[in-house]
Parts: sequence; C-alpha cells; structure tokens
Amino acid sequence: MTTQWTLVIHGGSGSMRPETLSPADDAAGRAGLAAALAAGAAILRDGGAALDAVQAAVEVLEDDPAFNAGRGSVFTAEGRVECDAAIMDGAALDAGAVAGVRTTRHPVALARAVMADSPHVFLAGAGADQFGRAHGIEAADPAWFETPERRRQLDEILARPDAAFDSDMKYGTVGAVAVDGDGHVAAATSTGGLTGKKWGRVGDSPLIGAGTYADDRAAAVSCTGAGEVFIRLGVAHEICARVRLAGWSIEDAADTLVDELGELGGKGGVIVVSPDGSGGWAFNTPGMYRAMQTHDSAPEIAIYGDE
Ligand code: GLY
Repeated sequence: MTTQWTLVIHGGSGSMRPETLSPADDAAGRAGLAAALAAGAAILRDGGAALDAVQAAVEVLEDDPAFNAGRGSVFTAEGRVECDAAIMDGAALDAGAVAGVRTTRHPVALARAVMADSPHVFLAGAGADQFGRAHGIEAADPAWFETPERRRQLDEILARPDAAFDSDMKYGTVGAVAVDGDGHVAAATSTGGLTGKKWGRVGDSPLIGAGTYADDRAAAVSCTGAGEVFIRLGVAHEICARVRLAGWSIEDAADTLVDELGELGGKGGVIVVSPDGSGGWAFNTPGMYRAMQTHDSAPEIAIYGDE
C-alpha cells in the first residue's frame, strides 16, 4: 500500500516578477526549493513523520544563502544577523520557538529542541543559543550567517533619506507544512526577519498561532510576509480555527485570511495542508517562492503569481 503524504514549502513572498528577478536568482530559488522539497519528501516517502519532514526541508533552506533564514539571513540595523524560528506538531499540539538567535546553525532544530527537551515553548536571545549548546544543537559562528548580498541590501536601506526597515519583505522567510501517512500534520517556519530591523523586533514567524500553527483537527500553516499584520490577525491559528470550528476548506480559509491581511494593509502569503492530504497556498504579493509534492505527484515549483 502506498503511504499517502503531502509536503508544501515556501521561500518567502514579495515583489518578484520575471522582469525584475535575474535568471541566476530565478534558477537559484528554484534549485533551493527543489532541494528542500526532496529532503522532506524522502522522509515522508519512507513513512517518516511530518514533523521530521518539515524540519528537514526548512534546514535545507536555512543553509541556502538564497533565502532569508539561517545562512543568508538579512541584517539588523546594527549589521547583525538575528534568526527566529518555530515548529509545531499537530498531533499533540506540541510547539517550540526561538527568537533573536545568533550562533545556532539551524534555528528550526533549536526550536525543535525547545519543544522536545524543555518545559517551555519560546526562548529568546543568548539564552536560546545557550540552551542549544547544552542540548547538542549545532553551533555556528555569527560570521557564517552573513553574506555580501545581505550586507549590500542593508547598506541600500540605510542610505535612503527615510532609512527604515524593508517593509516589502523582498527577501522572505522560509517554511514547510506536511501531512504524513498517519494523518498527522506539522508546520515549521524560519526567518532572519526584516532588513534593518531594530529594538529587538520579532515578527510573526516564531509566534505560535501567528506565523506557524499545526492541529490535526484542522490544518498546518506557515506564513511569510509583513509579520506585524500576521501577528494582529493571528493568521495561522485563525485559518485552523475556521477549518475546525466553521467547517471551511483550507483553500477558503487561506484565501480569506490573505484577503483580510490585505484589508489591514498587510502583504504576504501562507502555505497550508490538511490531515486529508490536500495542500496549497495563497498570497497577495506579485510572487512567492513555493513548491508542493504529494505521494502521487511530481514536484511543483513556482515563483511568480501567474505560474
Ligand atoms: N514574516 C517574517 C517577519 O515578519 O519577520
């Protein structure tokens, strides 16, 4: 009997259009998505857990400097990298999250350790990195996360007369959602946040219920975009609530929440799966790096809105 599974991933939403993205950046984005999808799909194909699949897919994207998570994260106004991540298991509603970590190679692995090995859900700053060291999570020097392109992007923003953070979120967050052969769903999200962020700003990605949520009774959701509006709407939990309590389809819930996001001035997108195996996405930006595969379908990889 074929094990049934579905995996959906994203590498961020934003203003990507065929005429603005270079062929090299287009190819790098698609290659990164393909590698991440393959890592997660291999686990699900072997009968592995959705939780392991979403972590594996996100770790690949965290190592890929084409995406704004882990290595290749955007810079704060002070020229540092501060990573946020979360993971959630829909079977038991277990969750772990970290914010502002600077010396952990895979922030999503650290979030998983918080979930599995601590009595807490959310750790922040140097303490979170220290927790990782105490629990065998791989460290990395802060310089390992930094790339010349992210430095250039910060310099560009700081040079503007009205220097502020990059509210377009052109260099987006990564995430994965999956349902495994046992019908369990999981979600994971990881990000460097916004270029030029300051004052310890944290977005939606590591906030359980805002940028990340998974519930076997409803769906798994990972978000990308303007984090402040996602937080105000509690987007990831709200999608799950409308599925669980109002009987909406994941497609209707995702489309409606993205519409409501837009009504508050927010830009971005979501990926979703349901325990019955359906999966998809919704976004209100010109593009979103995204990919999906199921037990009986080939990888589907896209960047632009009209693909
Ligand atoms: N959505 C990622 C952030 O706002 O930090």
